[in-house]
Amino acid sequence: MAGLLSAEVKMLKSRRVQRLLSFALKPLLAALFVSLIFYLTRSSPPKKPIDPYPHLTKSLVIAATTSSNLTWLPGALASSHWTPHVYTTDSPNAALTVPVNKGNEAMVYLSYIIDNYDSLPDVVFFHHDHSQAWHQQFSSAYELTHLNPVSVLKHGYLSPRCLPGCENVIELSGDVAPVLDLKGASRDVQIASVLREFLRDEKIGMRLELPEKIAAPCCAQFAVSRDAIRARGHETWMGLRDWLIATELDSRSSGRVLEYTWHLWFGKEAVHCPAEERCLNDVYGVGNGSGS
Ligand SMILES: *[C@@H]1O[C@H](CO)[C@@H](O)[C@H](O)[C@H]1NC(C)=O
Ligand SMILES: *[C@@H]1O[C@H](CO)[C@@H](O)[C@H](O)[C@H]1NC(C)=O
Repeated sequence: MAGLLSAEVKMLKSRRVQRLLSFALKPLLAALFVSLIFYLTRSSPPKKPIDPYPHLTKSLVIAATTSSNLTWLPGALASSHWTPHVYTTDSPNAALTVPVNKGNEAMVYLSYIIDNYDSLPDVVFFHHDHSQAWHQQFSSAYELTHLNPVSVLKHGYLSPRCLPGCENVIELSGDVAPVLDLKGASRDVQIASVLREFLRDEKIGMRLELPEKIAAPCCAQFAVSRDAIRARGHETWMGLRDWLIATELDSRSSGRVLEYTWHLWFGKEAVHCPAEERCLNDVYGVGNGSGS
């Protein structure tokens, strides 16, 4: 009798264990099953492509305003490898902005350089806010996904605009005026005066002779290397921005002085017109490789 009882108790106990187990396991198995189905059937999100240059740090500086349409940017960033720095020039409350909203994109570019001078990435792409403009052969998204940062290191300064010849050729007569008294001066005098004041041999501090002619692909979008930025002292960049802040010229005129001269501040020859095929190959890797 006692033996039978204890056997019954044992059976009851093991049933309880079984019930307990199935109570705990069923939902677990169900959860696993659901996750598996979910895993197998989910639509995979677009994958960020592998960075061909993981050893290089790359920043994208965008000059924007509160009315910029930047809907193109998230997709372009997702399929490329730039760390974005979006400056909003007309909003003092923006995460990144400028001390004074003057000089259009020039104030943004100079502010980025000045504020990051000691911790610059390998490559910086200075860019407008638009997805496509008349001066762009390719869309901004294409530029971001295809621009070759190794070519930027090699050349120091690279324009994404490849042309069959020179544009924006400006003759400098040699006439200059004080940089804070340029209102009413012609464009070439404005440019010559700013070059005269701030363009120096950075090693010995001597002013450089004015070129007779300057030229570069249009429109103030370019990629530069850290070395090209640091080839000029922090004071030179500060000097240019202080001038931009203090000048009586309107933003259109003062911004243009920088727009026409960026290649010079970054160490390129005065007349800078890379051959189109070579440019396409250097910048985007388009062509048969004969350019590099
Ligand atoms: C912003 O640009 C996109 C194309 O890049 C366009 O489809 C959209 O309509 C624009 N939005 C506004 C408010 O203009
Ligand atoms: C390829 O390169 C050669 C020079 O090496 C050049 O003559 C030729 O035009 C190029 N072809 C194309 C399609 O780019």
